[in-house]
Amino acid sequence: MLDQYSKILVTGGAGFIGSHLVDTLLSLGKKVVVLDSLATGSSEAVPSGATLAQVDVRDARQVTEAVKGIDLVFHVAANASGTVSINNPRLDFETNALGTFNVLEAALSGGVTRFVYVSSASVYGRPQRFPIDEEHPTKPFVPYGASKLTGELCCLSFWEAHNLPVVIGRPFCVYGPRENPQLALVEVARYLRWHLNRRPIQVIGDSDQKTRDFVPVSEIVQGLLLIAEKAEPGEIFNLGSGEEVSMRELIDIISSVTGWKAAVHEIRSITEDTYRLVADISKVKSLGYFPRVSLVEAVKQLAEELGKNPELPSGTTIFKKGQEAEK
Ligand SMILES: NC(=O)c1ccc[n+]([C@@H]2O[C@H](COP(=O)([O-])OP(=O)(O)OC[C@H]3O[C@@H](n4cnc5c(N)ncnc54)[C@H](O)[C@@H]3O)[C@@H](O)[C@H]2O)c1
Repeated sequence: MLDQYSKILVTGGAGFIGSHLVDTLLSLGKKVVVLDSLATGSSEAVPSGATLAQVDVRDARQVTEAVKGIDLVFHVAANASGTVSINNPRLDFETNALGTFNVLEAALSGGVTRFVYVSSASVYGRPQRFPIDEEHPTKPFVPYGASKLTGELCCLSFWEAHNLPVVIGRPFCVYGPRENPQLALVEVARYLRWHLNRRPIQVIGDSDQKTRDFVPVSEIVQGLLLIAEKAEPGEIFNLGSGEEVSMRELIDIISSVTGWKAAVHEIRSITEDTYRLVADISKVKSLGYFPRVSLVEAVKQLAEELGKNPELPSGTTIFKKGQEAEK
């Protein structure tokens, strides 16, 4: 796989998704450079065998240096938190929008032959139809979604105007080992961490009405490699499981795999993200993608990895400045 590429750059390779991607690339025998400022990632997470360039994507000059000699770029680095994007929209915009522009410009001048941008399902905003295909309107409602969408538009314009062969993946709700508990954005790890500490699971919104498409990080890696290898430039792909799961169903799975009933505290006053979210993944399936792990199996594995008293999630989830969320 990826035989035509010898030297690969993974921005954000010290973070959750990026470090799993780097692991797989190394196992394929690739030379990998990780570009990461360690803003939320850590040097220990960078798999041994990869070279770390501690560079901030906002620094165009340093990014250009790091991209020299690279033929394939996976641009994963970002502020990945909606809450951070509300509290500090400039940091979010500069990292996600300007940072993506800097990496694109460096890729163009460095002669990169493939550019994979890790976007986000947040670009869709509140879904208007189900399942969500790639043609669904994009109408983000937090600054994070807007900055990720800006990154996409920069990518597409570099393809149209400069022939830089970009492809875009839009991950849905990713979970798995190594997610930073201080961010722990997605409900699976968040809920498990409270539950394993025998604390009530805090659900923002209505646990029956709120649904998500949860996807293990291993599947995201599979999808990113496939689009890097096979997608036509300028194409966009949803990366999800294609399965819609309500918060209630997730909590039931957590109760059954751990063997004790979860206590639940619903925060009903926050309604912004009580909506359905499920991906149509037929486009990426046409490249050969298939979901390999069930939610039940993956939750069981993650619960075992986290152990008895994992660190509690410390970040809160808000959708408006000043909103009170989980305690
Ligand atoms: N986790 C999810 O569920 C999810 C869902 C959809 C999309 N995504 C996207 O996937 C990507 C990775 O997210 P993640 O969950 O692994 O988050 P993460 O925070 O674990 O990883 C992000 C990495 O980017 C690095 N980084 C941040 N700012 C930087 C900067 N200015 N310069 C260089 N490096 C910087 C961080 O240090 C970190 O290593 C992001 O682009 C995010 O938008 C994540």
